Amino acid sequence: MMPAMQISMTVNGTACTHDVEPRTLLVQFLREACGLTGTKVGCDTSSCGACTVLVDGESVKSCTMLGAQADCAAVTTIEGLGAAGWHPVQQAFHEKHGLQCGFCTAGMVMAAVSFLEENPEPTERDVRLGLEGNLCRCTGYHNIVVAVLSAADAMKAAK
Ligand code: FES
Ligand code: FES
Repeated sequence: MMPAMQISMTVNGTACTHDVEPRTLLVQFLREACGLTGTKVGCDTSSCGACTVLVDGESVKSCTMLGAQADCAAVTTIEGLGAAGWHPVQQAFHEKHGLQCGFCTAGMVMAAVSFLEENPEPTERDVRLGLEGNLCRCTGYHNIVVAVLSAADAMKAAK
């Protein structure tokens, strides 16, 4: 085992400092050191998006990043997104049945949150292109797209 290094970041608004191996991926840091298992590992090879979190507001596949690369960053996981009541994207996934087994859902929701910040008035095609890095083996994507469009409408109406 390699000597540990200390990594500190703010996760969902709380300071988190842990000694981990330098090779620790951000997703491992979040799941194993911080105990936040809402973020999933689907492929471990940057293909599926199940591990998507926000790092300083940008969506990142957390299996593609070392924990050390997020040192001093502010990270938001699905647990933080829903901490103060469901985010409109979570609400829309619930209402529009945008999930089945749920394995992809945390990553899909985090990617959708980031996508809607960049494109608050997307077309269906925009949503499909914007979320193409996130794979779902269950839903056929239709209800996910419907949910993201519905969330966009709800967020616009709330402004
Ligand atoms: S687990 Fe990170 S992209 Fe699949
Ligand atoms: S709901 Fe099962 S993988 Fe997407």
